Amino acid sequence: MISHSAYAVEPWCLRETGLHLDVLAQSESVFALSNGHVGWRGNLDEGEPHGLPGCYLNGVHELHPLPYAEAGYGFPESGQTVINVTNGKLIRLLVDDEPFDVRYGRLRSHERVLDLRAGLLHRVCEWTSPAGRTVRVRSTRLVSFTHRAIAAIAYEVEPLDGQVNLVVQSELVADEQLPELTGDPRVAAALESPLQPEEHTAVGTRLRLVHCTASSDLRLAAAADHVVQGPEPTRTSSESSNDVGRLTVTTVLGPGETFRLEKLVSYGWSGVRSLPAVRDQVEAALAGARSTGWQGLVDQQREFLDDFWRHADVEVDGDAEIQQAVRFALFHVLQAGARAEQRPLPAKGLTGSGYDGHCFWDTETFVLPLLTYTSPEPVAEALRWRQGTLPAARARARQLGLKGATFPWRTIEGSECSGYWPAGTAAFHINADIAAAVVRYVSATGDEDFERETGVELLVETARLWHSLGHHDSHGRFHIDGVTGPDEYSALADDNVYTNLMARANLQAAADAAERHAGEAAALGVDQEETARWRDAAKAMTVAYNSALGIHEQSAGFTRHQVWDFAGTLPEEYPLMLHFPYVDLYRKQVIKQADLVLAMYLCGDAFEHDQKARNFAYYEPLTVRDSSLSACVQCVMAAEVGHLRLAYDYLGEAALMDLEDLERNTRDGLHIASLAGTWMGLVAGFGGMRDYADVLHFAPRLPERLNRLAFSMLVRGRCLHVDITNSRVTYALTEGEPLRISHDGETMTVSRNTPQTRPVKPPTALPEPAQPAGRRPGHLR
Ligand code: BGC
Repeated sequence: MISHSAYAVEPWCLRETGLHLDVLAQSESVFALSNGHVGWRGNLDEGEPHGLPGCYLNGVHELHPLPYAEAGYGFPESGQTVINVTNGKLIRLLVDDEPFDVRYGRLRSHERVLDLRAGLLHRVCEWTSPAGRTVRVRSTRLVSFTHRAIAAIAYEVEPLDGQVNLVVQSELVADEQLPELTGDPRVAAALESPLQPEEHTAVGTRLRLVHCTASSDLRLAAAADHVVQGPEPTRTSSESSNDVGRLTVTTVLGPGETFRLEKLVSYGWSGVRSLPAVRDQVEAALAGARSTGWQGLVDQQREFLDDFWRHADVEVDGDAEIQQAVRFALFHVLQAGARAEQRPLPAKGLTGSGYDGHCFWDTETFVLPLLTYTSPEPVAEALRWRQGTLPAARARARQLGLKGATFPWRTIEGSECSGYWPAGTAAFHINADIAAAVVRYVSATGDEDFERETGVELLVETARLWHSLGHHDSHGRFHIDGVTGPDEYSALADDNVYTNLMARANLQAAADAAERHAGEAAALGVDQEETARWRDAAKAMTVAYNSALGIHEQSAGFTRHQVWDFAGTLPEEYPLMLHFPYVDLYRKQVIKQADLVLAMYLCGDAFEHDQKARNFAYYEPLTVRDSSLSACVQCVMAAEVGHLRLAYDYLGEAALMDLEDLERNTRDGLHIASLAGTWMGLVAGFGGMRDYADVLHFAPRLPERLNRLAFSMLVRGRCLHVDITNSRVTYALTEGEPLRISHDGETMTVSRNTPQTRPVKPPTALPEPAQPAGRRPGHLR
């Protein structure tokens, strides 16, 4: 993508300077706009050509049966898939009776710019129709951060060579035809015509369609209104049918005249509200947007983003590509979360239908950390969504014969819909990942109301799960057997170190929270005996260590397995899960994604520095990174153990995952966790930020390539600014009361008048470990 000649590297935007149909689907993902509630892929205004048309409403999905060749007890029976909802983006144009279609006539110029500060997608192109008429078309699109239900487009046409007759059709279209998706199992199962019509109207410039889904029983409405400006005579008419609402405008433009259409679109859905209620909801949202007006929406968008960037920007001197990539990443992660409001944050955000629109542990482990320190409100909302799904998680635990709650590995509405339990339900670590996100959010914000109302319940129910899932052996040691850790190439392992350490933290945090909030805990039936049992289990938790090798075992017995034949694996045989059977992968030493290495990052205080270096050296040659979640974690730990060059290569891989389409599936949607991993790599990798102790800790170190790295973080109502060069780091407070932090082990207080500057200690350079043959980071670029 970005290495494609059509893309430019710029600090505050993503610019495409020519239209290349070979990367059209990818461009639709990178130019997607969303606020976490409404998502519009960056499809062309006129709808065609397209890679994958997409409009999404967070939570709107359809159910489908999950067939099994051999069924088993507790297998989920129903799958959930995100659906393409009513398309409100469409604006078709006829120039002297020729449809504006870039595949015909001549596209003289084309440019799209995603402006990361303004939150707008601009397009300008000049097109000569097959009959020789030339027009300039400009459009600007937004999905509003301040009006949650609203998306809007300003669309302009001007003739460039004499008078033209124009017909503009602005539409709402339901059940669009979708292209056939690929055979990749990770790509959403296509659902044909999921929307059933309930009501349609067109009155003046206003359109509305209401539909419902057949099995998930959701009702959704889309409405649009328009402001039309053109020379006299400009005429409008509107019509609607089951799946189409259409405003048609006709006008004649002379030289120097411009036609302009402003289109406001509102969306709403509900699983419980009646048709009149949902209809009124979208009409009300539209009325609100009309009163704000196009310019008002644009101004509010800017204000919202100014505030975000003030607290979230990351400056990178020395690598323009990474500078662009990290801002692109921050913007898209914000888009995924900003207004999700008690709905899941899917692995692809609302940028595509990949992974069926499911939400995984990606949210709590990769996405929420970034938001916690830059825009914390969506974090509380995302965790409240998890709390809202506790009834399903409790029922799932009962079904599995467990206590507390078992959160789903993948879901949209809260129940498990992973049909492959070894890399689904067995990945119990998601429960501890949710607990860790609660602890991180509370400690970063000091939000006690949240802890009392939401945190305690999530911590208690997940602690109960761990206590019932594990067991004490005859020596009193606590084991958690038969689980799948982050490495999905080793399923059903015993004592996975990542899982055990995260469960240990979960059990301790639950006991602590129950003591702080005795009333809430008692209401959940927690007594002192129960918290004592959690503490005992935590204290006795097994952490598998192999003293002969001087390293931790990823899971008990892992290092005894045969090592995968990396030399005999062809480059085109990656990702391995699409070319080799799991029965083979599961019994070999081959790691899909950082597992023990992730444990060393998130639970770093459970390891000695030397152990970290040895573990890293051992696991690095076994890790193939068949998941986009790996590179950022390997970046962080490579930096910590002193391999700064390698860390930088990993950063590049995480940062450019979508801009370079490294996994060849950006067309299905962006890799939101890897985007968040760009921030993680810079802040936790080169900034050395760790948050597992009472005070935030930093151990900065820059790779050779960078001259400077600066970032801000929101911590308990303060804004901390960290500015790192090769020789020194300055910690300054731009907002709030004095803050205690630690730098390389020294605790200090930073206040608004007293920034603190310290020298940066370069790490001792160790020999770099090798990666599996052909899997060095950077090999994809
Ligand atoms: C990874 C999982 C991840 C999922 C969604 C899989 O390939 O192995 O860890 O949650 O993708 O991103």
